[in-house]
Amino acid sequence: MSEAPHGAPIKTPGQLIAAVVAGFAVPIVIIILLAYYVDNTTRTGAGTDELSVQQVTSRIAPIAQVSIRDANAPRVYKTGEQVYQAVCSACHASGAAGAPKFGNAGDWAPRIAQGYDTLWHTALSGKGAMPARGGTSPDDYSDYEIGLAVAYMANHAGANFQDPPKPAPGAASAASGAAAAAPASGADANAAQASAAAAAIAAIPQAGSAPADGAASADASQAGKALYTQVCQACHAAGVLGAPKFGNKADWAPRLKDPMDTIYNYALHGKGQMPAKGGSNASDADVKAAVDYMVSAAK
Ligand code: HEC
Ligand code: HEC
Repeated sequence: MSEAPHGAPIKTPGQLIAAVVAGFAVPIVIIILLAYYVDNTTRTGAGTDELSVQQVTSRIAPIAQVSIRDANAPRVYKTGEQVYQAVCSACHASGAAGAPKFGNAGDWAPRIAQGYDTLWHTALSGKGAMPARGGTSPDDYSDYEIGLAVAYMANHAGANFQDPPKPAPGAASAASGAAAAAPASGADANAAQASAAAAAIAAIPQAGSAPADGAASADASQAGKALYTQVCQACHAAGVLGAPKFGNKADWAPRLKDPMDTIYNYALHGKGQMPAKGGSNASDADVKAAVDYMVSAAK
């Protein structure tokens, strides 16, 4: 009875080896097949690419896309003609709302007589039915590009204006540092534009604001303080975004070396992270009054 029992399936050493090999191989093959079965990511539904990465991403894509511009990428400027076609032609092609008509020397002559800088300034800040920047934001078209459009229009109506100086790419302040990507991209570009624009705009005589002095000066300082409290202190009280702090002589001293007109222009048209007029739509006179109020507190 020491022999293997009758009818046992394994009778020879060859069969034993085969059984042992199969005992290892079969589970391994099953495991491999299972692994393939579970990991079906690379395969798509039969006869359809419904599950392909492209299809899926397009289905789950957000409805609105945010495009973040690289703050350090060199800015590509539109030409004056492109800006005119995209924005200004809406009114200036037909002369809608009393706009001086494109190519109409009669409409433009008295305006051209004011000089390029004044026209540029007016295009940036608006006048009557003419919206500031033709209704666009500084992120859409820089001061420089608006300036190009002004030169383009005026030169087609008899003027012989030079294009404004192209802002230097490196002129943007490096102060934005860790600031959030989206605002920084606009702000950096703005810094370059503002410094170019400020140089040109500083030359414009600030007509109208000076003669009104005297009796109005008490009112002006009230208005300045009011606007500061309402708008400017949001950043200037604590020095948010690197704003010079209210009443802090050290913060202000280097800035006060600039002529007052330059400082006004920074406040009116923005500088670095400082939005034009602090992001408000206050009048130029009130913004200047607020600057006066801030400056006098830092002297
Ligand atoms: C919504 C209509 C409208 C759009 C858009 C528009 N303008 Fe005007 N623009 C006007 C009107 C109206 C006037 C006349 C304002 C006045 O003299 O009171 C004007 C006047 C001007 C003047 C002459 C200002 C002066 O001092 O006499 C310039 C320069 C000018 N626009 C530039 C532009 C530029 C550049 C754009 C495009 C970026 C543009 N405009 C887009 C309506 C528009
Ligand atoms: C969103 C924040 C913010 C608001 C609101 C704001 N500022 Fe500023 N301001 C700044 C920053 C940041 C700077 C520093 C800009 C730089 O030097 O690059 C600055 C700088 C200035 C300067 C100094 C410019 C110079 O270098 O000569 C003046 C003047 C100024 N702001 C006036 C105002 C006035 C007036 C208001 C309100 C109408 C205002 N700011 C509202 C952020 C702000």
